[in-house]
Amino acid sequence: MTYKITLLPGDGIGPEVIAAAEQVLCALPLDIEFTRAEIGFGAYERLGTPLPDSTLDAIRSSHAALFGAVTTPPNIPGYFSPVVRMRQKLDLYANLRPTRSIPHPSSRPGIDMLIVRENTEGLYSGVERLEDDGNRAITERIITRKGSERIVRKAFDLARQAGRNKVHVVHKANVLRQTCGLFRAVALEVAKEYPEIEMLEMLVDTCAMELVRAPEQFEIIVTTNLFGDILSDEACMFVGGLGVAASANIGAQASVFEPVHGSAPPLVGTGKANPTATFLATAMMLEHIGETESAARLRSAIESCIAEGQVTPDLGGTLTTTEMTEKVKCRL
Ligand code: NAI
Ligand code: MG
Repeated sequence: MTYKITLLPGDGIGPEVIAAAEQVLCALPLDIEFTRAEIGFGAYERLGTPLPDSTLDAIRSSHAALFGAVTTPPNIPGYFSPVVRMRQKLDLYANLRPTRSIPHPSSRPGIDMLIVRENTEGLYSGVERLEDDGNRAITERIITRKGSERIVRKAFDLARQAGRNKVHVVHKANVLRQTCGLFRAVALEVAKEYPEIEMLEMLVDTCAMELVRAPEQFEIIVTTNLFGDILSDEACMFVGGLGVAASANIGAQASVFEPVHGSAPPLVGTGKANPTATFLATAMMLEHIGETESAARLRSAIESCIAEGQVTPDLGGTLTTTEMTEKVKCRL
């Protein structure tokens, strides 16, 4: 089988980590046809838009896409976030953020959780306005039955696939009675279809505290857009930080995998960008397209590099992006 993979390098260190991932993919026994597509501020400067339609078409006609990072420019009228727009245009409704312990002194042991974040609605629906001569700002938090149902079902399906036996539904329904109330009610209904999985409810503020107190207790968390954004950034700090945090954006028709970090302008060209986050996003992509054996090989190559200290400076090593990529390739 030939896989079509779209590479979206983007800005800053994006092209460096995507080139590293491409090399690693080429070292695996897979038949892949790569396409490169434009996204980000560089694309805007070259083409007048940070997200050309041709990029969306390329992603739609691929098995999956791998995205680096983009730079958000200073206020340019009419500029929009290509990341948020891409998620909405492709209806990439599920943002998956795994947090797993790594064999490194900076990582807490015993953590293996997945945060399943709704990725298209909630407080990031994009419905905002100013009133009263700019003295009153309003953002609408849109929660729908359809949006809640599909994200909760995704979380329970993933729990079932992974043989997990509990899912935390995180909300603030005691205060946000309508929006979180609907999310919670839908979650309770969906959970009935999964009798072997326990549904636990937690208020988002309690969850933020519990994550710090005892992160090991969590297996799968499902929550709305903003809550998931914050909790998942919090969680990644237990296990090595931004250099190793990966994520997936999954829709019914398309999927985009990416490191959590941004374009890190000060690191460009220094060789200090840790490619691990992008490698782990690549492993998630391989699992998604069904290449679980290659994904497992890639994961174990990365872990072995980390365990032996063959890493970039953010993890206390001395290797450059290219050198670490070589070490991972050797192990494949
Ligand atoms: P950032 O994630 O680029 O950097 C935050 C810190 O982490 C910096 O100290 C950086 O050096 C370090 N870091 C990031 N990636 C690393 C890697 N692979 N290896 C080692 N260290 C790494 O976030 P920041 O500085 O807030 O934003 C920079 C630009 O990136 C902004 O224009 C921002 O809008 C954009 N951004 C884009 C994202 C995306 O494309 N999904 C996500 C976050 C920020
Ligand atoms: Mg974030």
